[in-house]
Amino acid sequence: MNEPAASDIIVLDKVDKRFGANYAVQDLSFTVQRGQIVALLGRTGAGKSTALHLIMGVMAPTSGHLIVDGLDPYRQFKQLRGKLAVSFQTDRLLPWRSAIDNVALGLQILGFGAAERRRRAEEWLANVKITGAANLAKFPHELSGGMRQRTSLARALAVDPNLLLLDESFSQLDHVTSAALRTDVADLVRRLSKTCVLITHRIDDALEMADRVLVLTAPARVAYDLVIPPGLRHDKAWLAEQERAIAAAMAAPLESSATGLAESGAEQPRVT
Ligand SMILES: Nc1ncnc2c1ncn2[C@@H]1O[C@H](COP(=O)(O)OP(=O)(O)OP(=O)(O)O)[C@@H](O)[C@H]1O
Ligand SMILES: [Mg+2]
Repeated sequence: MNEPAASDIIVLDKVDKRFGANYAVQDLSFTVQRGQIVALLGRTGAGKSTALHLIMGVMAPTSGHLIVDGLDPYRQFKQLRGKLAVSFQTDRLLPWRSAIDNVALGLQILGFGAAERRRRAEEWLANVKITGAANLAKFPHELSGGMRQRTSLARALAVDPNLLLLDESFSQLDHVTSAALRTDVADLVRRLSKTCVLITHRIDDALEMADRVLVLTAPARVAYDLVIPPGLRHDKAWLAEQERAIAAAMAAPLESSATGLAESGAEQPRVT
């Protein structure tokens, strides 16, 4: 493959990922530039999470090349630690740690001392609008769903990653809570000049948050690539037209992905 440009933080070049006989990702190529917010959209089973797992380096591609922040994410997995952060559909907070101690966890793993951990954790919680000693001391079961997800995002961001990956991080919240969180996260990512790749099922979420939308169809391939010009982000007629085009791309009939090889079963991603 060609040498990636310095502005490219993610490069996928003809990437395949097969589980047994089935391709979850086939011939997937795209690049993400530093500072972009890219939404991966696709129906269930399109291979979105698998693409994200490959970018995280928790599984190796069957073939093809990936570069994430200048590294091979699978072979140089340890070197990527602290450079990328991930937040999932469920908050994955540790129930026996308070909000602030959950956020401080990644900093502890990176070797920061106690005072610095506390200072940074407080700052990141404030960035996601959680403030006040009483809130910082709350345990996950004492926080609302929205606050738990905000705490989880603060934990992801606290290590100051270049790249933030979000897999359906807003989908379990009610519409009003998730809309507020989406706006805050997009603002924060832009303010800090981070790069963000987010997975969602919802076209409106993608158009609202992202600078670019990639529609994946099974086995994950780019069926539609839309860059959202800043001037049109709030243009209702343009957005309605794009929603229709994206819906049509998402609705394209699924291809059979079987290879004819013997089924060799599931594969567990490595634990981060
Ligand atoms: N670890 C695994 N072992 C075996 N098959 C897998 C594994 N992970 C994913 N698959 C298969 O790969 C395909 C793509 O799955 P993936 O989870 O990436 O889809 P998705 O687009 O994230 O779907 P959803 O929107 O439902 O989360 C599916 O057919 C799935 O069953
Ligand atoms: Mg998924």
